[in-house]
Amino acid sequence: MKGVILAGGSGTRLRPLTSVVSKQLLPVFDKPMIYYPLSTLIHAGVNDVLIISTPVDTPRIESLLGDGKDFGIKITYLIQERPEGLAQGVNMASNFAEGEKFWFILGDNFFHGPAFGVNLRLVSDNHGEGALIFAYRVMDPRAYGVVTFDDKTEKIIDLIEKPDSDSPGWAVPGLYRFDSNAQEHFKKLKPSKRGELEIIDLLNEYRKNNSLTMTRISRGNAWFDLGSIESLQIGAQFVQAIQSRQGQLIGSPEEASLRAGFLKEVDFLKYLESQPNSTYYEFLRSYFI
Ligand code: TTP
Repeated sequence: MKGVILAGGSGTRLRPLTSVVSKQLLPVFDKPMIYYPLSTLIHAGVNDVLIISTPVDTPRIESLLGDGKDFGIKITYLIQERPEGLAQGVNMASNFAEGEKFWFILGDNFFHGPAFGVNLRLVSDNHGEGALIFAYRVMDPRAYGVVTFDDKTEKIIDLIEKPDSDSPGWAVPGLYRFDSNAQEHFKKLKPSKRGELEIIDLLNEYRKNNSLTMTRISRGNAWFDLGSIESLQIGAQFVQAIQSRQGQLIGSPEEASLRAGFLKEVDFLKYLESQPNSTYYEFLRSYFI
């Protein structure tokens, strides 16, 4: 199955941290940020990954993740010349997907929860035509795209970018599934006031065609957009707290691939032998002792 990570952007909210380092390569506790969305995709059953990033950051991300062999998957790369919006990323991803449906995740989005990957597989199995979004309840939705919907049927009523109201609402996290119509809808988009091709506008094109569906992410699941300094800190604390309490990693592509059956144990153990004694690799080794 195919999946795409959009991992470019400007990272202005994290300057000066992101002045010379890609946001997606910043540490979130013991691993680079991009490990988390990559693991989410693998848990969802994705073994063919495209990573889209900036001209400067793409080679750096590639030197971290390579062609994916160490993780038992295939990873390829594509450069987005300028950060002209998330919808542009979806359009670029569509060429890679070659008509197949694909997962699309933002490189700064973190998900964790009971059977999250299993649930994503169920969602993709049931995904008919169109695009699919999720809804996650937040106390203050002003920083996000927000969806309103019928409580019983989950039929979408409205989808807006960054509302003024600070009442609790349902944010749209950076994880989507698109079908082969994305490029047709993309052609109708115009840049927004901030000069970007907005994913909300693309999703609204799907909605106009009655082909946008939504699934609620239930309570007990964690979602963070790690793009602000507060959420970056909270995300790192969350990972540290759960990992040290349970003795299990969160956001390990190697572990996700082993579980998915993409990585053979014998290959994984050989790969582990060549890794140093960092906290991360010691954690992985501890599974086999
Ligand atoms: P944003 O957080 O919306 O934008 P940004 O990363 O440029 O950060 P800031 O707002 O602080 O300037 O982007 C969400 C994700 O999408 C993030 O992982 C970067 C990525 N992205 C691209 O790859 N290309 C783009 O054109 C944009 C806008 C974002």
